[in-house]
Amino acid sequence: MAPTVTLMEVEAPRVARKVQAGQFVMIRVDESGERIPLTVADKDPDKGTITLVFQAVGYTTRRMADLEVGQALADVLGPLGKATEVKKYGRVVCVAGGVGIAFIYPEIRAFAEAGNEVISILGARSKDLLFYVEEITALSKEVHIATDDGSLGRHGFVTDVLRGLLEGGEKYDYCLAIGPIPMMKATTALTKEFDLPTLVSLDPIMVDGTGMCGGCRVTVAGEVKFACVDGPDFDGHLVDFDELAQRKRAFVEEEQCLLQQVADQIKEGAEQG
Ligand code: FES
Repeated sequence: MAPTVTLMEVEAPRVARKVQAGQFVMIRVDESGERIPLTVADKDPDKGTITLVFQAVGYTTRRMADLEVGQALADVLGPLGKATEVKKYGRVVCVAGGVGIAFIYPEIRAFAEAGNEVISILGARSKDLLFYVEEITALSKEVHIATDDGSLGRHGFVTDVLRGLLEGGEKYDYCLAIGPIPMMKATTALTKEFDLPTLVSLDPIMVDGTGMCGGCRVTVAGEVKFACVDGPDFDGHLVDFDELAQRKRAFVEEEQCLLQQVADQIKEGAEQG
């Protein structure tokens, strides 16, 4: 879909029949692979497929990106997590950054279908990294774009756009924010200033995805919650984003080591012809 961002359509008829906006699946590429959660970006119950969109940044997502059409994943477990509570709020502003655009797309559709007027704010580092713009435009009353390098839309962040709209007097009844942790943290800090209820979707490290390991614990309103069963959606004004960011960094060194080992093996293989 964009450099490093891959869309994968997966044949999983039973998941496709049941999955709702906001839910995710756990994936394993092979029998010894780690388990990673991925929000379901789209579904086609008639075809029996679900759409997964991911950024190839870690060991597992890079391996997924290398799969060819027709190959299989070892496991696709889901749908997991609670579906987003979709109601008619009125004017709903949906803010997404990076690969979060893929995850907010089904939410935008669900909120639009529930009779809300959706205003979408999409952001990425540059215009090449934006996707689903046409699809989201078709569902939204307005779409605003921000890029870090100014290659499309406003030069800056999604929060700059949202601040401009709120300070300009725009009124919203509900906000949805999905994207990198700093983006969700900044968005919720801003919406708190304006008393705008805000839902975020969290993606902490997950292992089982069914509430047993405690790996996905997050602190919300001072209480421990498990994102896989209590979420992944939470009231953004109550989430401890600093703790979440710290926990997400827990295995960065191990991951880098693994990626280095793989790079060395590839280099060695190339040298041996
Ligand atoms: Fe294990 Fe949530 S992933 S408790």
